[in-house]
Amino acid sequence: MSRFWSRVVSALTPYVPGEQPKIANLIKLNTNENPYPPSPQVLTAIQAELGVDAARLRLYPDPNADQLKAAVAKLHGVTAQQIFVGNGSDEVLAHIFMALLKHERPILFPDITYSFYPVYCGLYGVDYRTVPLADDFSIDPADYTQPNGGIIFPNPNAPTGRLLALEAIEQILAANPDSVFVVDEAYVDFGGISAISLVDRHDNLLVVHTLSKSRSLAGLRVGFAVGHPALIEALERVKNSFNSYPLDRLAIVGAVAALEDAGHFDRTRQAVIATRNTLTAELQALGFEVLPSAANFIFARHPQRDAAQLAQALRDQSIIVRHFKLPRIDQFLRITVGTDAECKALTQALRDILG
Ligand SMILES: Cc1ncc(COP(=O)(O)O)c(C=O)c1O
Repeated sequence: MSRFWSRVVSALTPYVPGEQPKIANLIKLNTNENPYPPSPQVLTAIQAELGVDAARLRLYPDPNADQLKAAVAKLHGVTAQQIFVGNGSDEVLAHIFMALLKHERPILFPDITYSFYPVYCGLYGVDYRTVPLADDFSIDPADYTQPNGGIIFPNPNAPTGRLLALEAIEQILAANPDSVFVVDEAYVDFGGISAISLVDRHDNLLVVHTLSKSRSLAGLRVGFAVGHPALIEALERVKNSFNSYPLDRLAIVGAVAALEDAGHFDRTRQAVIATRNTLTAELQALGFEVLPSAANFIFARHPQRDAAQLAQALRDQSIIVRHFKLPRIDQFLRITVGTDAECKALTQALRDILG
């Protein structure tokens, strides 16, 4: 606290990202990064952009990232006017809260969900009401029929990993024709079906994607939103009142290369899905209750062991997973799906800890 802080800053409760410890030989299963490297085409594209003397870095990047929008448009069968790109999907989400979710009525999101949403509400003064997940941690679409200023949740949800069927998404859209409904599909490529196929029929739907997870590019910071051109225009208005160049030259070409390499994308996501299924079975064999996951992480609890103590015991063996000290989920661990070898090391460590 300082007397120089504005009132807004003094009132903020910032988001705390999962730690990025600088410990050698760590098995890092705490922030849902992809265990596989990105497409080799990404490095080739970045090197080509740099050229021999990196002279192009003198010049600003394309403020509209047209090349990237064209690649997203081609991949998802939409037009460039239906796409907004940003510096990670977190930035895209931030602009969404300001541009499309700040209205008279409170917005709705689940009580257990991506913990950045209430932070954006605090930053932009957006009123919100949380909607409890069902006892099995699923989302009931019938809960989203009350009056609201907008709706947002991830699908699959985070940190539960539970997927809501596309029909349920349509049900929520139908019940809320006058509210923007944001579906945050950060993890959809690991087992869901994207709602992008619905944007042409629903002018209130905005679907958000990231290249951080299924494209293995958390370090490049690229995300995008797909929706009706009027929604996209609102986001462009905020972006162009904030930072004209959110994506640098290397991010633009790297992201395009990643989106164009369908083979690498499919191989790596199938590998993650296969490892997730094996890990789920092994944890169940150790007595864990594992929620059904359509993401690159699983959410699990052991009926006889305290989750915080388990997380600490794993940490003592240089394996880090995520534990949230939050109501309803403080006995769960969120475990990112790593390589087969990393997951084997995890289950072996748990076997030793459980005795
Ligand atoms: C549900 C959800 N949305 C968005 C993000 C942000 O991803 P990024 O800013 O890396 O694109 C995350 C990151 O973990 C997430 O879990």
